[in-house]
Amino acid sequence: MFPYQRGRRMRMSDGVRSLMRENHLRVDDLMMPIFVADDMADKQPIASMPGYYRHTLETLEKEIIQASELGIKAVNLYAKVADDLKDNMGTEALNAEGLMQTTVRKIKEWNPDLLVFTDVALDPYSTYGHDGVVQDGEIVNDETVDILAQMALSHAQAGADFVAPSDMMDGRVLAIREILENNRFGNVGIMSYTAKYASSFYGPFRDALDSAPGFGDKKSYQMDYANALEALREAEQDMYEGADILMVKPGMPYLDILYRVKEFAKMPVAVYQVSGEYAMLKAAGEKGWIDYEKCMLESLYAFKRAGADIINTYFAMEVAGLLKDA
Ligand code: PBG
Repeated sequence: MFPYQRGRRMRMSDGVRSLMRENHLRVDDLMMPIFVADDMADKQPIASMPGYYRHTLETLEKEIIQASELGIKAVNLYAKVADDLKDNMGTEALNAEGLMQTTVRKIKEWNPDLLVFTDVALDPYSTYGHDGVVQDGEIVNDETVDILAQMALSHAQAGADFVAPSDMMDGRVLAIREILENNRFGNVGIMSYTAKYASSFYGPFRDALDSAPGFGDKKSYQMDYANALEALREAEQDMYEGADILMVKPGMPYLDILYRVKEFAKMPVAVYQVSGEYAMLKAAGEKGWIDYEKCMLESLYAFKRAGADIINTYFAMEVAGLLKDA
């Protein structure tokens, strides 16, 4: 009741604002996505993601050491494989000496404490750029799930702490949980891309991995962006199938989904601030149209406010630097 309640009283100084602050961004909240490739001599810039690179194993070592020094505790790996290794079944994904598996082992040599999450999906390995096996123009579910489970096991054998299925096939969390349990990898976690939308904000990522779908789109497996309750059904399913972390993706345009999933599931929830979100902020910043650093921080606080426990963001390293200096 006015004037007994004056909201501004608690906004008058830095001191009182900091007492009032409900959410805090810490380096512990961050997860850093990493692109690795083995068909190039040096790290390569990604045109649509200024400041972000595809790394070779050599350049990655420096990056990992730097990230660790800045206090980053988790990385999320994506491997870009050469075209001649791609096929419809994603065979290369199961190669124990493949790029993903080798990278996991290397990172564990450089810093055994760094948590390694691995992407489990067929699209970077698929001639069709789809997240599943293609039969007669259809992305088939169950055949794909069998391969994803094998892929997850091979990542666990290489030393991954968490496997992260990003494919949106039905039943893959259960299949992965079972294969891990049956092979004495019960402590390897699953971060499930639970509510992953068929979004146009993934464009720059597909440039980075050269993984754009060769035909059609991903709407038969990724979710319709008009839907919200469907995300809760996916969350319920993943919880019962044995996921440890639920992820919502993209981030900024989906804060409502993040909030609802967190409220509903009472589980650790991650959010993926995707490549298109990164690209937009970078581009507007380069043009001088926004104060880039402030907008970046604001976007990350929005995730905290909406309930994110983990923020997977291409800003991880930059923000870790800012938090360190603060
Ligand atoms: C595919 C995958 C995609 C992203 C992560 N995993 C793209 C897609 O679904 O086509 C996008 C991430 C980003 O845009 O940053 N398994």
